[in-house]
Amino acid sequence: MLVCSCNYITDQEIRQVITDLLDQDCWQLIVPAKVYHAMEKRGRCCGCFPNVVDIIIQTTEEYHARRHSTEDEIFDFMSRLKQFHEENRRADIERRQKSHRAA
Ligand code: FES
Repeated sequence: MLVCSCNYITDQEIRQVITDLLDQDCWQLIVPAKVYHAMEKRGRCCGCFPNVVDIIIQTTEEYHARRHSTEDEIFDFMSRLKQFHEENRRADIERRQKSHRAA
């Protein structure tokens, strides 16, 4: 499925990059910019980023389920990952609202 129409990136390509990043460090926090940087792409309109965040969370959960990490480790990490993305999402919304008001 095409996720990023600006760069023609599919969900399978994104999942593969996330898995490669997790193979390097399975406890790192992955953001859409890091995924796109690894693909030598960059966000243009960034409209796909919320979907990329969902794919990051889902792929990371599946990765750790396969890896047999302890439930405590997974719960703690996934909580931090979801909180991190939620804070970024809120900051993006606030930034867009401010720039909209300024215009
Ligand atoms: S849809 Fe991905 S950057 Fe525009």
